[in-house]
Amino acid sequence: MVAKRVMNSRKEETISVIVETEDRKKFETSAPSGKSKGKYEVNDFSNKGLTFSIDFVNVLGKKIADERIVFETFDDLNKVEKIVREYDKSSNLELVGGNSLYALECSLLKAMAHSYEVEPWKFLLRTNKINVPMPLGNAIGGGMHVKQDKKLDFQEMLFIPKTDKFFDASFLNLQAYKEAKRLLKEKDKKWKSKITDENALATTLDNESTLKLMAQIRDDLRDKFKMKLEIGMDAACSGFWNRIKYTYLNFSKEQPVKNLGKAEQLEYLDKLIKENKLFYVEDPFYGDDFESFAKLLSKNKQTLICGDDLICTNPDRLFEAIQKKSINSVIIKPNQVGSLLVAKEALDMARKYDIVPIISHRSGETNDNIIAHLAVGWNIPYIKTGITGEERLAKINELLRIERYC
Ligand code: PGA
Ligand code: ZN
Repeated sequence: MVAKRVMNSRKEETISVIVETEDRKKFETSAPSGKSKGKYEVNDFSNKGLTFSIDFVNVLGKKIADERIVFETFDDLNKVEKIVREYDKSSNLELVGGNSLYALECSLLKAMAHSYEVEPWKFLLRTNKINVPMPLGNAIGGGMHVKQDKKLDFQEMLFIPKTDKFFDASFLNLQAYKEAKRLLKEKDKKWKSKITDENALATTLDNESTLKLMAQIRDDLRDKFKMKLEIGMDAACSGFWNRIKYTYLNFSKEQPVKNLGKAEQLEYLDKLIKENKLFYVEDPFYGDDFESFAKLLSKNKQTLICGDDLICTNPDRLFEAIQKKSINSVIIKPNQVGSLLVAKEALDMARKYDIVPIISHRSGETNDNIIAHLAVGWNIPYIKTGITGEERLAKINELLRIERYC
């Protein structure tokens, strides 16, 4: 087992872990990183720095080899978690770093699948029925994912196709992206062809005009292709909550700067959902406001009200949200908890309580495609992994390949 330093799509350093099997095959996983992180996520790397995380994995690798620790089933990942958690007792993995454990577990998973001569998705899947998830496609974006004077306050405007085949869904997302580009060129006079960290189009249009444009594209493409297409957004509201108010800087054409208190934010989000028939809204409030989530959900039971920063893939926080009826959907990002086992625990809990799970990439990605395998292997109905860009297409193309296999 060897750990090394690589770059993610935002040109930040991250860790890659290579596991070598007895037949000398090598399996590698590089970890992604978020920009608009939830405050309850584990640390990406050791608080002593990335070098410490790399050294730790290398020492751990030697221990695993010396003690001839065997990994044969998914639950065997517990063997490595036990060693790590004995060494780093902090809840946020501040000594080891979540990305080290995440990359290590993913490479072990790939190696175990190989020893059974199957791909990772098949190793994880316990039924014969294969479901390829529907993709949430980030077409127009803003928030913390772009540096630009005038930008969307909301982070991601998403298209959500609902087709029988992943092939049709990814095609539809691409058409929607192209149409968004064409319309932005026409309507956004200040548009500079800039893209966000996730390769979405970084408009200068205000939030509401952009949502209207999304709704127009949805309606046009439904007519044109006779396929089901929905829209939604990751509002990522923690990013502009200042502990008292939500500070909008591009609220509307007439009034760009606007502050909304908690109650006003609830009213505003409720209005946006209804006016634009939003199928999906992620993080409509800051990441501790379980109560406002619950109020919005009670008024919009048909919409997926999803928790990302609210939950951080943490089973305890998910349980709290379930008790408080805050969400009916949850983002699963395994590197938020630095552990495939804990991510799976959150996923199982979501399923038990009818919370719709969505597996997701990070804004700083690598070309690794393991989340495509986790999506199929864990039978997750949706995946959020962008529309274009090499690191996003790595996952989309893998899902297309798995679908062809079916
Ligand atoms: P992040 O953003 O990867 O920068 O945290 C993605 C998201 O908020 O869903
Ligand atoms: Zn999010």
